Amino acid sequence: MIDNFNTQPIGVFDSGVGGLSVLQEIHKLLPHENLIYIADSKYAPYGEKSRDYIKQRSQKIANFLLKKNIKTLVVACNTATAAAVDSLRQQLPIPIVGLEPAIKPAVKISKTGVVGVLATQQTLQSKRLTSLTIKHALHTKVLAQPCPGLVEKVEANHLDRYDTRQLIKQYTLPLLKQQVDTLILGCTHYPFLNNTIRMIVGDDIKILDTGKPVALQLQRILKRQQLLNLSSCAGRLHFYNSSQLHQHTQTMQQLWHQKIDIRLLLL
Ligand code: DGL
Repeated sequence: MIDNFNTQPIGVFDSGVGGLSVLQEIHKLLPHENLIYIADSKYAPYGEKSRDYIKQRSQKIANFLLKKNIKTLVVACNTATAAAVDSLRQQLPIPIVGLEPAIKPAVKISKTGVVGVLATQQTLQSKRLTSLTIKHALHTKVLAQPCPGLVEKVEANHLDRYDTRQLIKQYTLPLLKQQVDTLILGCTHYPFLNNTIRMIVGDDIKILDTGKPVALQLQRILKRQQLLNLSSCAGRLHFYNSSQLHQHTQTMQQLWHQKIDIRLLLL
């Protein structure tokens, strides 16, 4: 029975191409939804910018998406969620889904009681992460590892180059020495490095990201608010990037595994 044809799009944004790892999960789970994705590659990485700067960019992007009549916003960026989701929630009249490093599930599955979080400096020093850790990881050691440079490697689609592997070794091997058995990918760019990380840390380490749980959370919210698009047509996807550098648009095409039309976002 089709009682709801809510064809308004869902807006998804990230500082760059990383949020495509979340968009893939959303598109897989909700193939009939129309989606608009924004990569703010011209202004990435957010992780090394101030909180105010990230708030401002997030606000501008959210306003742009609101004008496109979105029904829900997904902040597919841990850094922008930490810096801006509270103020976006105060200002926007639609449901907003944010992203947080998977501390809770990591604590549940860790056998050594030591987990590592790979994320940007901004995410790691945020109040949100501190309260998440206090809430879920009182009896677990959470080792925070900032990973400067990794976002740029993904933006350039250098997923398995020598210097990318060196950076990953530098960030992960000290964690393994401290008995970490679970690694949390606390930045949406890092799932694209999953194979390279796996090669370096070996098969015994669990690696968690939040793409799928976020897609499920979005589905729950759409259902609850009766916002699901129950049409049987395939959803339309629109892509924007604030950078028109060939490198960025090419990376988007390659990570999405399909030829896509990418419009320039002038904000
Ligand atoms: N994908 C963003 C995140 O999840 C990367 C942040 C950045 O641009 O530094 O944190």
